[in-house]
Amino acid sequence: MDQNALKQRVAEAALRHVPEGEVIGVGTGSTANCFIDALATMKDRLAGAVASSEATAERLRGHGIEVLELNQVDSLPLYVDGADEVNDHREMIKGGGGALTREKIVAAVAERFICIVDGSKQVKRLGGFPLPVEVIPMARSYVARRLAALGGQPQYREGFVTDNGNLILDVRNLDILNPIELEEKINNITGVVTNGLFARRPADLVLVGRGDEVISI
Ligand code: 5RP
Repeated sequence: MDQNALKQRVAEAALRHVPEGEVIGVGTGSTANCFIDALATMKDRLAGAVASSEATAERLRGHGIEVLELNQVDSLPLYVDGADEVNDHREMIKGGGGALTREKIVAAVAERFICIVDGSKQVKRLGGFPLPVEVIPMARSYVARRLAALGGQPQYREGFVTDNGNLILDVRNLDILNPIELEEKINNITGVVTNGLFARRPADLVLVGRGDEVISI
């Protein structure tokens, strides 16, 4: 089964966890897009969705699903999103699509976070995928020096501006022995908005599409 078919399969599996009559959070990326397309089949049984990016909001609206601002809701029973890497502790690297900050905010509000991935994203140790860090533009060089001091090799994502008007540094070669500690350390660098380690708030359930089956972690 090809990667796209696996993404569709996990997206459909996630649909079974969507509570009827509620507003849910929706992530960003190609796997989240498969979920949005699947969600459209039950849009009449949904109160609406909070989007983690402008692209997701546009796709949801395209299917006739009402998009609400996060500030319009007091709680979210569920958030569904993809990931670039996920380990056995349901900790993730996210942000390959550059939407990490809004994704982290929506995930923080959600009572339940379901991560949907194809098998290629499952790893023993996080860090093979370069860690995205969203940075206030004027702090770019300073933050890059601090990331280098942590042993990483930051690279400016040329020509990319986040939905929040900031830039992304993709950091290679980080030794991610303790994801929670590193997430906090990088977030404490002045000028960093947030980084793509989702360890302090891991997923509650990971659905992995592998071969003919969907495995739960
Ligand atoms: C976007 C993300 C995505 O969830 C992540 O990049 C995975 O994307 P895809 O499903 O296209 O592989 O974090 O910021």
